[in-house]
Parts: sequence; C-alpha cells; structure tokens
Amino acid sequence: MRGVDLYDDPAFLTGYRELRREKRGLNDELEIPAMAGLLPAVDGLRVIDLGCGEGGLAVRLAEAEAGGAAEVLGVDASAAMLARAVAHPRVRYQRADLADFELPAASVDLVVSSLALHYVEDFEELVGRVAAWLVPSGWFVFSVEHPVVTAPLVEGTLDDYADEGPRQRTWFGRPVVKYHRTLATTLATLQRHGFSLQAVQEPLPTEAQVAAHPHLAIHRRRPPLLLVSARLAAN
Ligand SMILES: C[S@@+](CC[C@H](N)C(=O)[O-])C[C@H]1O[C@@H](n2cnc3c(N)ncnc32)[C@H](O)[C@@H]1O
Repeated sequence: MRGVDLYDDPAFLTGYRELRREKRGLNDELEIPAMAGLLPAVDGLRVIDLGCGEGGLAVRLAEAEAGGAAEVLGVDASAAMLARAVAHPRVRYQRADLADFELPAASVDLVVSSLALHYVEDFEELVGRVAAWLVPSGWFVFSVEHPVVTAPLVEGTLDDYADEGPRQRTWFGRPVVKYHRTLATTLATLQRHGFSLQAVQEPLPTEAQVAAHPHLAIHRRRPPLLLVSARLAAN
C-alpha cells in the first residue's frame, strides 16, 4: 500500500491515531522538538506543509511567537487526515498527491514536511518543484525516516544500503511502501537543485527519555530520523 492511499485505510488509521494520541511515538518525543529547533523565524512567511496530516505543524507555524506565519497551506493526500485537520484563520488545507502537486513559481518562503517524503518515489523531481516554488533564499526544512531504517535488515543487520528504491514493511498490520534513499543521495539532490545545507540532524532519545519511555531504547542504537534544513541560493 502506497503512502498516498495508506492513511485512508481505516485499520491503519486506527493504529496510527492511537499511537499519536498516546504521544509516546517518535513524533512527539523526537521529531517535533528537533523540527522546531531547525525552523527559521516564520513570522510573516508564506509556508507550505507537504504531507501535513492533521495539521499540527501547520497550526504551530501560524501561531508561532511574534505573530506567526502569514499563511500556511497544508497539503495531504488523505481525506481522513484532512477531515481531522485543525482549523486556523491563517491555515488552508488542500487534498493532493505530492507526486504531482503544483504551485506558482517563487510564491512561498518556506516549505516544510514532517515524516512524509519517504513516501515519495521521485525525490529528485519533487526537490526540483520545491526549488521552483521558493523565492530566492527560501527555506526547505524536512524530516524523513533515517536511511538506516528504510534500508533492508537481514537477520537484524543493515543490508543493501546502496540499493535505493521501494521497501515494503508491515505497519499496523498493513503492507506499507516507503522509498529508501541514501543520506548522500538526499543531500546531493538538494545541492543539485541550488540548495545549501544549513543543518543535518540525526536525533536520538536521551537517557531520561528512554527511562520514561522504555520502548524508545532501540532508537539510541540507530538513528530513527533524519532532519535537514536547506536554503535556496540568493539568486
Ligand atoms: C506520518 S504522517 C505525518 C503527518 C504530519 N506531517 C505529522 O507530522 O503529524 C504522513 C502523512 O503523509 C501523507 N502522505 C503520504 N504520501 C503522500 C502523498 N503521496 N501525497 C500527499 N500526502 C501523502 C499521509 O497521508 C500522512 O498524512
């Protein structure tokens, strides 16, 4: 099942929502704080959130200190996720597939994405579109599953790291397709499209987090997330 359809599958969605409601997953413990630390000041910016889900990040950006983003467009393929999306006067939502979503050239200041781009098959093409949407010096800040997680495991050991492409995993009882790309491919793709890297992070849970949430222990042994902040050239 591809990401574009996955979050409208009722059985999958029930499991995913349960995980998020309990606030015990990687999103709340690691991804949200790491993303917050990488974002530029968003006051007055025009922002797009790719794979916005229920709009948590979109609304946080609109409500940021000192005014917040001027406008945020949250884009997601899932009708079920968007049906739950949080309303805010400066946030709009649009149902679309990231594979062919389009925007006018040079129309946004910041493109963000939390844990959605590993569902996109053609990252090179997507980064080309993102670069076209951004104004000069615009920002692209995103998180994805770390490539040591999307790469295959053979008997518990990382294998075929350089073999990029689709990987099928079972998640909440459903076969889920994610796309594996090496760290070098992700970073080089950004640079090919005119981005300079501002920060690259591989956050791990602290010992205190593991003590409070023992199921996070595995994530101290290998990084679960990759976060990248990149900035388009001034011109
Ligand atoms: C793990 S959820 C993350 C949601 C949100 N960004 C967050 O951090 O709470 C991944 C989201 O990506 C969306 N998604 C996956 N593939 C997509 C695609 N091809 N086009 C648009 N959205 C997609 C899913 O519908 C889902 O809402």
